[in-house]
Amino acid sequence: MKPQILALLGSPLPEGNTAKLLKQAIAGAEKAGCEVTLIDVPSLEFSSCREMYYCKEQSSCIMEDDMIPIYPLLKNMDSLIIATPVMTMGVPGHLKSFMDRCQVFYCAKYERKAPLIPAEKRKTRKTLLLSISGMNLPNNFDGIKISTQAFCDILDCRLADELLIKDMDNKVDLDRFPDLLKEAYDKGFALGSALTKHS
Ligand SMILES: Cc1cc2nc3c(=O)[nH]c(=O)nc-3n(C[C@H](O)[C@H](O)[C@H](O)COP(=O)(O)O)c2cc1C
Repeated sequence: MKPQILALLGSPLPEGNTAKLLKQAIAGAEKAGCEVTLIDVPSLEFSSCREMYYCKEQSSCIMEDDMIPIYPLLKNMDSLIIATPVMTMGVPGHLKSFMDRCQVFYCAKYERKAPLIPAEKRKTRKTLLLSISGMNLPNNFDGIKISTQAFCDILDCRLADELLIKDMDNKVDLDRFPDLLKEAYDKGFALGSALTKHS
């Protein structure tokens, strides 16, 4: 079986610039010999976390919605790609709720000291973060990076690489920047190669 990579799209636009970047990273990872499953997060139907804390005792969530089939994918993946625009200086709402619903993994790891992620995967899996902001501010990606770092810690999927593209309001269309698209492809390829080298 090929190494499995999960790719989370945080943008609501399936043809937008974030999606273009993710498409390239996926192509790179597939070229390296991995199987990539794309999750279009804004199209999932699920609630934000209600703090019912069923997950303090159980290894799933009490709310039966589109997050339930996602948990085994997050548990078994070999690496992760997150592609997201900056919204209000942070992670877009639906993707943030997706991260919050991973409290299931937090409780297992930190409260019960019984991580859901298999021990051999905990050592090796990595995250590639791709992000785009409209503006060109020095702290554009601070919010995205803090939340993503916490999410990666919870999932035992080390934040290993990133491609952060600012000033998209002026760049307008990433198709005009083949070097950036190539960089996304190369980073996807590197993420995938790290897995196929050892499998
Ligand atoms: C609701 C909303 C909030 C945004 N907030 C920010 C922001 O705080 N900082 C920023 O630099 N860009 C912000 N943007 C701009 C987006 O990051 C930018 O348009 C990006 O290219 C969108 O990527 P996409 O078209 O692939 O979804 C915001 C856009 C939206 C729709």
